[in-house]
Amino acid sequence: MLIDTMADYSTEDVPALLAEAARSGSGVHDTTTGDVVVASYAEVRGLLPDRCLTTKRPPSDTSGLSPVRLAMRKFYVKWPLFSDGDYHARLRTHLQGAIGRLDDDVLSRIAAHVTRAHQNHASDTFSWLKTISEPVSVDVIAAVVGSSGEETEWLVEKAKVILEELAWQVTDDEGFAGVVSAMESVAQWLDAALTHGRLTTPFMKALSAISQDAELGFDAALGAMCQTITGAYDPLVAAITVLGLLSAHPSFAHGESAGLCEEVLRLSSPFRFTRRFATRPIELKGRVIPPHTRVLLGLGPANLDETAFPEPTELGKERRAHVAFGGGSHYCLGAEAVRDSLRALVGVMTEHGFAFEASNVVHHPSLAILRFTTVDGRWR
Ligand code: HEM
Repeated sequence: MLIDTMADYSTEDVPALLAEAARSGSGVHDTTTGDVVVASYAEVRGLLPDRCLTTKRPPSDTSGLSPVRLAMRKFYVKWPLFSDGDYHARLRTHLQGAIGRLDDDVLSRIAAHVTRAHQNHASDTFSWLKTISEPVSVDVIAAVVGSSGEETEWLVEKAKVILEELAWQVTDDEGFAGVVSAMESVAQWLDAALTHGRLTTPFMKALSAISQDAELGFDAALGAMCQTITGAYDPLVAAITVLGLLSAHPSFAHGESAGLCEEVLRLSSPFRFTRRFATRPIELKGRVIPPHTRVLLGLGPANLDETAFPEPTELGKERRAHVAFGGGSHYCLGAEAVRDSLRALVGVMTEHGFAFEASNVVHHPSLAILRFTTVDGRWR
């Protein structure tokens, strides 16, 4: 099977395509990049923690790259997700536990977005994205970073510029310059926050410790900061939106909160692929993949693999563990905060019997990441 991760998928039946990819397992190729795509649940689960793959880009000839592209590369290598080995392990030691559970105040604020939307839009059409998914995601990031609402919105704008390049392959120097400029803005913010001792959350304390760690330093703290805001906002918005879309499903109202949240995560799988590189020759379905080959582990396809999840596109019960948060040494550090926020939303919706019925849903063209541009509808 062939896919083209650069094509426009906004009008495609993406879940059907991902389920078909899962059937093809490791027989999927990306026509634009030539990457090997691994898509069955068993293969993805097996390879996520396997040291035959690394998240770190192998050394390559950079002599033809423009200065702005080189600056961008230099910035990305410091991110937790694009690093490996001792550097990543040290970074992870600082960050582990620094993005923990959300406290009751934050959970109440999250639930209040839903009750307020129910009061304010009792009978009119409203945007689920603007009224619930986006403000809740801002609240979660604000809680982790300890930033004000306004500051968090500003940080999220910078994260969006960076994510656009990662998810939708910006290919010109102007686009790359935008990423470098966004990164520089976050660097200034972080420098001021660390200098003025704005260390009100465990996450900011961890960034301060990373910055002062002689083997890591400020650029590592900046990488962790940029990765966190970029990796948190869009997938949260997507998952919360899928939660809204599923709330009209007949079995939603009677579901048990934790199980529903896991199904929301499985069915949304906001990051549909996670990137790795082969560290040695790997045999996949009798084919040998040479070292340094780029391998996309299909989290989205794996989560819709019918051999692991019968009737994969349906809201199910008591499913096995999904892979929406990846796995191995790069397993998502925000997973528990995400689960807390989804449970708060499911809790308030099932308690009051709220269900959202969408009338206009528009997807972003990207296959790599689930994103919505419009989600309008009303309470049922
Ligand atoms: C629904 C929301 C989210 C989803 C689906 C998600 C998914 C993921 C995935 C797939 C990875 C890569 C794992 C791998 O390649 O094995 C990852 C890494 C990461 N995530 Fe999340 N994420 C979400 C929200 C968050 C939030 C809210 C935060 C923090 C506030 C966060 C912080 C991170 C960090 C720091 C990493 C890098 C870990 C490392 O490389 O060591 N994520 N996430």
